[in-house]
Order: sequence, then C-alpha cells, then structure tokens
Amino acid sequence: MKKVLVTGGAGYIGSHTCIELLGQGYEVVVVDNLSNSDPEALHRVEQISGKKLQFVELDIRSADALEQVFQAHDFFAVIHFAGLKAVGESVAQPLKYFDNNIHGSQVLLDVMQRHHVFNIVFSSSATVYGDPESVPIQESFPLTALNPYGRTKLVVEDMLRDLGASDSRWQAVLLRYFNPVGAHPCGLIGEDPSDIPNNLMPYISQVAVGRLASLSVFGGDYPTHDGTGVRDYIHVVDLAKGHLAALEHLQLEPGVVAYNLGTGNGYSVLDMVAAFAAVSGRDIPYQIVDRRAGDSAECYADPSLAKSKLGWEAELGLDAMTRDSWNWQSKNPGGYASPKP
Ligand code: NAD
Ligand code: WQD
Repeated sequence: MKKVLVTGGAGYIGSHTCIELLGQGYEVVVVDNLSNSDPEALHRVEQISGKKLQFVELDIRSADALEQVFQAHDFFAVIHFAGLKAVGESVAQPLKYFDNNIHGSQVLLDVMQRHHVFNIVFSSSATVYGDPESVPIQESFPLTALNPYGRTKLVVEDMLRDLGASDSRWQAVLLRYFNPVGAHPCGLIGEDPSDIPNNLMPYISQVAVGRLASLSVFGGDYPTHDGTGVRDYIHVVDLAKGHLAALEHLQLEPGVVAYNLGTGNGYSVLDMVAAFAAVSGRDIPYQIVDRRAGDSAECYADPSLAKSKLGWEAELGLDAMTRDSWNWQSKNPGGYASPKP
C-alpha cells in the first residue's frame, strides 16, 4: 500500500483530501502544527472513512521533527498543504509568511531529498496569475505576485522548477486552486476559519447562521453582468479528487508541471448570495461598499489542461457547493468547537 505524507492535513482542503486518499487505499501520515486547524477534523476524517491515519503534531520548519517522521515511514509522495493563507495578514506581516511558507517548504524539500522522496504535489493558487489580462486563465499566462502571500506561492513554485532542472528525479505537480468552497456532504468536516472570515463563502455562511450581521460586497461597479466580482468557485471534494489524479500523474509524466483546478465557470458575488439564500432559506443581508484593494473584476480558469493530462474535471456545481457549505455550517454553527452533530 502506498504511503503519503500530508502536510497541513488537518486543514480545510487537507482534511477533505485525506478522506479521498484513505478511500483509494493510500496509507496517510498527517503532519500539522494546528496553527489554523483543530485535531477534531482528523477524528472526523477517520469516522467518515472508517479508516485510521497517523497524525504527528509538528511544525514543518522543524527539520529534526520532520526527520524523525521520514525515518519512521517510507513515503511514495508528499502532498504539501501546510501554509498560511490570509492575504491581508501577509501584507501586514510579510516576514511571517516568508518564514512559514517559504522557509517551511525549503526545510521540507531538504528532508525529502535526504530521504530520496522526490514526488510532491504542491498547493499553489490562482493568485500566481495576479490580475489576469484576460479570462479564462491558462497555465501559460504570465505569473506575478500582488501581495506577500502570492509571492510565497510563486517562490515555492520556482523552487520546485529549479529542483526539477537540477535533478530529474524530482517530480512535482503544482496545483493552482481557484476558489475552494463547500464541504464534505456528510456535514462533519468543513471550513472553520479561526477569525472573521476573509473569504466570501465562509462569510456568507456565517451571516446565514446568524454569527455575522451582514455581508459587505466589495464593489458594485465592476464590468461584470451585475457589477460585482466574478470568481471560479470549486467544490472542495472536487479539489480533493484533483490531488488523487495528481498523485497518479506523478507516476506517468516526469518533470514539474502546473495545472489549474477550477470549473471554468464564473459566478458573481450576488450570484453566490442568491444561491446561498435559496438553499438555506435564510436572508443574507448585504450592502455594496468600496472595492477591496487588489481585487480583480473576473478570475476563472481554463481547466482543459487538467482534463486532458490528469483526466480530472470538476463535477459538482453551484447547488452542491452552497448546499454542502450550508449543511456543514448549520450542523456546526461554531465550527469544530460546536457540540458534535
Ligand atoms: P488551512 O489553513 O485550513 O490549512 C492549512 C494547514 O496547514 C492548517 O491545518 C495549518 O495548521 C497548517 N500549517 C500552517 N503552517 C504550518 C507549519 N509551519 N507547519 C505545519 N503545519 C502548518 O488552509 P486550506 O484552505 O486548507 O489551504 C491549504 C493550502 O492550499 C494552503 O497552502 C493554501 O495557501 C492553499 N490554497 C488555499 C486556497 C483557499 O482559498 N482555501 C486557495 C488556493 C491555495
Ligand atoms: C471572492 C469575491 C471579493 C469577501 C482569495 C485569495 C486567493 C485564493 C482564494 C489562496 C471577490 C468578494 C469577498 C467579502 C466580498 N486563496 N468578497 N465580500 O479574493 O478571489 O481569492 O482566496 O490562495 O489567493 O486572494 O476570494 O473569497 O476573498 O473573494 O464582496 O466579505 O468575493 O471582492 O470578488 P479571492 P474571496
């Protein structure tokens, strides 16, 4: 049975990916420092999948702690989710992001190399395209960073490209996620931001459940069908499945390759509000305010490369995304701190 190390596996996307890995018969070892997650997520992963995983609480910047994990296990590959992801915080505290995301990745890659583990799937982001000149976005579009968080993704992508050029044993799949939303349909795991959410979907969910009073819609004068920003929302279960496809791909095509994981469909902020109100039966009060600095009008993927090369495409639509987000939020109004549903 192939064994996979999942860094950041207790987090939102990592926990959903663990379910898919266990379901496909992989052995899973999770390392996470729990800086933005709750170990309860991993208990629920085991409950949902009916299988056990191993969890080691550690910070990937600790080479000694990682070394012990690599000595104890023979990994086929690493899926590297561990990282900080709040764009605004990265602008205020860039060094925190460089240290956690860039230095942390460097320590991980160094330990991998020493143990001859050369297969990695990396959580990159559509943020590496900056403010794209046109949509849909293809992988060949120019890359840039609009903020320190985005720069960390770009630097780690470059580190992996440099490693691939230095030694052909390195094989990396760089997955550029668009806007992950939704939750596992059972409602036991989902997104549980520790602070007031920065992202649209958890914000809407918390308004619907009564934790937040109303949504500020950032800009009503974009050149889009209703004036609000358009994004490519992708169900987290589809995204998780993309990682399984990437693992299989590592064995087929050598080198360091990037793929967009998106649906190719763009929805506006008001489309999302209307869809969420419809599935939840709740009012989502909102007011239109100024644009948020750094936001683009439209961002959605051309996902055709992932389809042709990975054999992967998103299957779940807006209904499933909003229904499953609401199912998780309504069953766990306070996130993992709520009484177990
Ligand atoms: P998350 O915060 O829920 O998960 C990240 C996990 O990494 C958390 O459990 C956190 O505790 C852990 N972690 C952070 N720093 C660590 C460290 N130094 N050592 C060990 N563990 C550490 O975030 P997520 O939404 O699941 O995102 C996973 C990855 O995907 C991140 O790298 C993120 O940048 C990337 N990504 C996320 C989105 C998104 O919108 N959610 C979009 C594009 C890319
Ligand atoms: C979506 C739309 C907002 C909140 C971010 C990161 C990106 C990636 C995904 C990690 C936009 C609008 C939002 C609110 C609003 N993450 N909005 N009111 O900005 O597309 O991408 O998450 O890699 O790097 O930048 O996602 O969910 O913040 O915003 O009107 O309270 O919702 O303006 O149009 P974004 P988002």
